[in-house]
Amino acid sequence: MIHIMSRNKINLIGIVTITLSFCVLLFFATKNSNYYDEYTKKENINSFRHNKLKNNYYYSSESQQQQLVTQNLSVTIEDVLNFQRQQLADEMQYYEYPNGRFGVDAKNLRDLTPETGGAPMRSVIISTWRSGSTFLGDVLNALPGNYYHYEPLLTYDIVQIRGPPNDSKAIKSLKKLLRCDYTNMQEYLEFGQTHNYLFTHNTRLWNQCHLFPNFCYQPKFLEPYCKLFPLQSMKVVRLRLKIAARLLEDTSLNVRILLLIRDPRGFLQSRKHRVWCPGNADCDNPNIVCKDLVSDYKAAEKLAKKYPMTFKAVRYEDLSLSPYDMTQEVLQFYGLAFDDRVAEFLDTHTKQNVGGVSSTFRDSKSAPFHWTKELPYNEIQYIQDSCKLAMKLWGYKEASNASELLKNFNPLLPFPEFN
Ligand SMILES: *[C@@H]1O[C@H](CO)[C@@H](O)[C@H](O)[C@H]1NC(C)=O
Ligand SMILES: *[C@@H]1O[C@H](CO)[C@@H](O)[C@H](O)[C@H]1NC(C)=O
Ligand SMILES: *[C@@H]1O[C@H](CO)[C@@H](O)[C@H](O)[C@H]1NC(C)=O
Repeated sequence: MIHIMSRNKINLIGIVTITLSFCVLLFFATKNSNYYDEYTKKENINSFRHNKLKNNYYYSSESQQQQLVTQNLSVTIEDVLNFQRQQLADEMQYYEYPNGRFGVDAKNLRDLTPETGGAPMRSVIISTWRSGSTFLGDVLNALPGNYYHYEPLLTYDIVQIRGPPNDSKAIKSLKKLLRCDYTNMQEYLEFGQTHNYLFTHNTRLWNQCHLFPNFCYQPKFLEPYCKLFPLQSMKVVRLRLKIAARLLEDTSLNVRILLLIRDPRGFLQSRKHRVWCPGNADCDNPNIVCKDLVSDYKAAEKLAKKYPMTFKAVRYEDLSLSPYDMTQEVLQFYGLAFDDRVAEFLDTHTKQNVGGVSSTFRDSKSAPFHWTKELPYNEIQYIQDSCKLAMKLWGYKEASNASELLKNFNPLLPFPEFN
């Protein structure tokens, strides 16, 4: 009798705690969502709903787990790990392992999961704001078994890291995350608790976070959870390539870096409409952002020679015009299979416009070129004057007058050959 009563009491405390932490989480999420309007809750709900509808697999496993939770409040971290381990085994069942292709030996799940001493495929995207990295990040996350380290440098706000004093700290954090080491990452984890978009893009983590918010930001959960995953992706928009190159120098990290470039006229036009950008020189000043593009080019030239297998650069415009071919090329570079689930993602995300400003559902053939119609010609001229070298190096053509832009202006020159 006493035993049953104390058990009920514990359950009650459990319910109250979980409900309270959920409310606190919701409160902060709502409070802060205005700041980065591109990550509105509405959009997260849309993409979540989309996943549910598109993917019966997630749907069924999730409701299955919901049952587990509502029926039993004494679920432990170990239970969640066991559940996810089984999920991953199912998800990876039909995955095509590299088995020697693209310079990767891995033949099965154990060869890739850190918890079994395997070396995961580590795929990093280096880019800058409004350059298509959300889209490409979601392409990688459409692969089965992927754990997505989304924008780990969000805590640095709207700045670029080009050198001291923040570069070593930033690189150290990225390396730790890529190794699933969440110790001494308080700043990052505290930021996540009040800005849930740090984790929502990592769908396979968020599935558990919204069921078990009490585990979500604890290193003792995150570390073993992360180590279950055979594919690890990361996208970063606040670190310039010459600094990110340090990840390649550390060969034990086994990482591949893709630099994603966009026409400065395109990203500057897009940034004008984001509340967090205007007024931050690293984001809205054409001279500064185009110096970054030049610096990235110089770094890319060196890296392409030094690390032909583990470094590659692509343009967002080329990716958008040929999403299937370019995605195939990108995945091949990363040593990843072009899985059916990626094809399905492209089918549903490149053919029509759905959702808000940061929605990745776009008509991909027109999305990169909106600026030709929407940016006033005097602003285009100002950007072109500030960005002459950057545009020349990356193969973007200047418009010579306003009327040229009205006639299906093609801003693309051949992409630079680095090798
Ligand atoms: C609740 O979950 C725990 C841990 O998985 C298990 O040992 C226990 O038997 C479960 N209780 C019920 C009532 O299902
Ligand atoms: C980056 O460096 C500056 C100057 O030292 C410092 O004020 C700032 O707090 C640093 N940012 C982070 C996120 O550490
Ligand atoms: C605009 O530029 C194009 C390409 O240089 C040129 O062919 C055209 O004559 C120009 N039009 C006007 C109105 O200057």
